[in-house]
Amino acid sequence: MGQKILLEHANVPGIKTYEVYRQHGGYRSVEKALKSMTPDEVVEEVKTSGLRGRGGAGFPTGMKWSFIDKKSGKPRHLVCNADESEPGTFKDRYLMEYIPHLLIEGMITSSYALGCNQSYIYIRGEYMWVYRILETAIKEAYAAGWLGKNILGTGWDLDLAVHCGGGAYICGEETALIESLEGKRGNPRIKPPFPAISGLWQNPTVVNNVESIAVVPWIVNNTGAEYAKIGIGRSTGTKLISASGHCKNPGVYEIELGLSVDEFMNSDEYLGGMMDDRPLKALIPGGSSVPILPAHLIFKNAEGGDRLMSYESLSEGGFASGSMLGSGGFIVYNDTTCVVRNTWNFSRFYHHESCGQCSPCREGTGWMEKVLHRIETGHGREEDIDLLWDIQRKIEGNTICPLGDAAAWPVAAAIRHFREEFEYHVRFPERIKDKDHFVHEPFEKVRHLVAKQTV
Ligand SMILES: Cc1cc2nc3c(=O)[nH]c(=O)nc-3n(C[C@H](O)[C@H](O)[C@H](O)COP(=O)(O)O)c2cc1C
Repeated sequence: MGQKILLEHANVPGIKTYEVYRQHGGYRSVEKALKSMTPDEVVEEVKTSGLRGRGGAGFPTGMKWSFIDKKSGKPRHLVCNADESEPGTFKDRYLMEYIPHLLIEGMITSSYALGCNQSYIYIRGEYMWVYRILETAIKEAYAAGWLGKNILGTGWDLDLAVHCGGGAYICGEETALIESLEGKRGNPRIKPPFPAISGLWQNPTVVNNVESIAVVPWIVNNTGAEYAKIGIGRSTGTKLISASGHCKNPGVYEIELGLSVDEFMNSDEYLGGMMDDRPLKALIPGGSSVPILPAHLIFKNAEGGDRLMSYESLSEGGFASGSMLGSGGFIVYNDTTCVVRNTWNFSRFYHHESCGQCSPCREGTGWMEKVLHRIETGHGREEDIDLLWDIQRKIEGNTICPLGDAAAWPVAAAIRHFREEFEYHVRFPERIKDKDHFVHEPFEKVRHLVAKQTV
């Protein structure tokens, strides 16, 4: 049983309410920080913890905090990114829905560290019921004196507002989120300047994921050094993983980083193996944007070493044979999955969600969707596969924000690892035409058919 930091009290009846949360040690970190630590000392603890941002990129949180411009004299803001729109990712929702005060406590302690007087939680439009839960919890925190004027008699004021987005994936990108929070269309900004220098209302701003902020109370209460003891190497602490797809026990889990993928996938404590005991075909370990892994690269890397649930281990081998921990959206696929259809489905999503500012993303995502659709429906041409490869390469790295990369990588990885399945769709349209697309011929058979025909 791994250490639980975020979900320790998740199953306590009534933990959603201020009273029960407080009875279980809630808001202790605010007392500790405000009464016995300077803001810089809180930043130092977070740096020592080695915490890396849980929104996907894994940037060290303490380092990001140290970049915030304290010299300009402008107001500073902490913005919590609760947009969570990445397909396969639903861990932040779980935290906010079941333990809303943990996030609010984290917002207060973190805002103190950064010297903010006005902070925000930006939540996606589809989480309306969670928005209401947060609103209730914020009201309770105001009533108890943790928010508002002169908190704990220290002379420090903090207001916290929760803002509901309109339901656009792009608004999860931090600069688009800032634009949206300012009341504008959520188009990403060109960086630099980075938000830490010029963010919300051109003020110094830190944008952090829900999980990154919610872990700060534990770090302040127990020290960064204790946090750094959990995990493996530069992947310190615990991580929330939202597991979905063809596993026995889908759900949200808190794991210690460094757990083997095998144990996470197959032990009864976690996913319990494959649903209906069908063979594992592929895995996306970190949300729809990260490369898909074929079965032989899931539990072992290309060198035969154990694959672990950590930033480093999941990316071993680069994109040739690895993937990324990303946002922790762990999607399991069995042998009935059509990789072409899955890739088309993702491309449809990215095309729909592209903000349209950059031509490679605006045009390329639509083009990929179209080509994938014709391959999937049995109207593909042999040259379409290389065309797709070419399009994704022209998107990657050529856009203002990483949505372009997020759209390109799944296509690249699907072709890299499952090229024969694309060829099969092109060469044997009669075998897929009348089928339920989710029930496919086994990949080994697909490979065999394609190889036979090539020879
Ligand atoms: C298209 C796109 C969508 C994103 N969506 C989210 C999101 O829903 N939640 C999130 O925390 N980060 C998201 N990010 C990453 C944010 O830009 C940012 O890196 C993150 O909020 C920083 O928080 P962290 O340092 O705590 O990880 C997204 C990035 C892109 C490019």
